[in-house]
Amino acid sequence: ARCLQTSTDQERSITRFAFAFDIDGVLVRSSDALPRAHKALSHLQSHHVPFILLTNGGGKHETQRVHDLSEKLGVSLDVEMFVQSHTPFANFSPEEKEDKTVLVVGGDGDNCRHVAHRYGFKNVIMPCDIFAADPTVMPFSSAQLSVHKRHAQPLLDPLPPISTILVFNDPRDWALDLQLITDLLLSKGGQLGTLSTLNNNTDLPNRGYQQDGQPQLWFSNPDLLWAAKHPLPRFGQGGFREALEGVWAAITGGPQNGVSLQKRVIGKPYRFTYEFAEKKLLSHSRGMKRSTLLGTKSEDDAISSNEDSDSIKTLDRVYMVGDNPESDIKGGNEYRSPMGVKWRTALVETGVYVAGSEPKYKPSVIVGDVWDAVQWALEEER
Ligand code: G3P
Ligand code: MG
Repeated sequence: ARCLQTSTDQERSITRFAFAFDIDGVLVRSSDALPRAHKALSHLQSHHVPFILLTNGGGKHETQRVHDLSEKLGVSLDVEMFVQSHTPFANFSPEEKEDKTVLVVGGDGDNCRHVAHRYGFKNVIMPCDIFAADPTVMPFSSAQLSVHKRHAQPLLDPLPPISTILVFNDPRDWALDLQLITDLLLSKGGQLGTLSTLNNNTDLPNRGYQQDGQPQLWFSNPDLLWAAKHPLPRFGQGGFREALEGVWAAITGGPQNGVSLQKRVIGKPYRFTYEFAEKKLLSHSRGMKRSTLLGTKSEDDAISSNEDSDSIKTLDRVYMVGDNPESDIKGGNEYRSPMGVKWRTALVETGVYVAGSEPKYKPSVIVGDVWDAVQWALEEER
């Protein structure tokens, strides 16, 4: 496209715009790459246009996902330009990670245990550990006992109180995970097997629920639905969360009874995740500018002389390309950048959104697929 200068010109001025690509429904459908994903990403790479992959998916470490996706898309991806639903969990404080015990929920087997360890969490337990140690915690998960046992690790005895529950990815055994999370949220101080019944009257509609040091609960992905291989959208982590909200309300009376489920939810469309991604994009584009301009004294002086080179704004616009109006488009439309970066949104027809329907959140443009989205944005940049 004409607006992309030739490579030598390019070395002088890295583009002041970038892309944020959603993954499921934009670049892949489950394990299959979408037809023009390779073409779109390699075109941008050959013209030094920065991009970040911003997904509500996860379940493996970023390095593993980047390796798999690079192979699948035939494009070499940068792990620094890859944000998954749980990537921000790596930024928990050392105190949270080293002194406290966390329950990590979700993903295949105990992959997410290993991710949490690589993030620096020292004391990690998973539902499979608890179930293998005491299958009576969820009688209806007995059919999965062999799978849970294969991934279980022995529990400390006595089990220390759990301070935080981190839902890294979609749970595979909803019954067990719903039961254990509910047990912990009704417990005394996060001690499994206890009930917080400060008023000792568990006949109350809220089963004697009291704030009593129960663990913090974090969800990493709000998606009620997502575009998997099946032709119709499938339940995402948001579906599990809604199931927990229902069980919680049935047991404690829920919000009507003044006992809302205390939780934090990150991931698209929330500001927390867009700000996290934008910071990575900005530092990446600064790095590109610095490395490209290194020989140009004046510019390099300009960058190095500035006390906080992080305040240098090297990006004016980001084009968010997504398939889910509720997450990608809503988030991109509503995000207000502290650095004044303008986010615009392109909705593709290869995922959750059904072509021809009226999306609840209006994108800047609706296009067929990711290549069309890239061409539209490059036209906008003419
Ligand atoms: O679990 C993944 C799903 O929630 C959506 O992922 O890549 O479309 O944000 P993505
Ligand atoms: Mg998607």
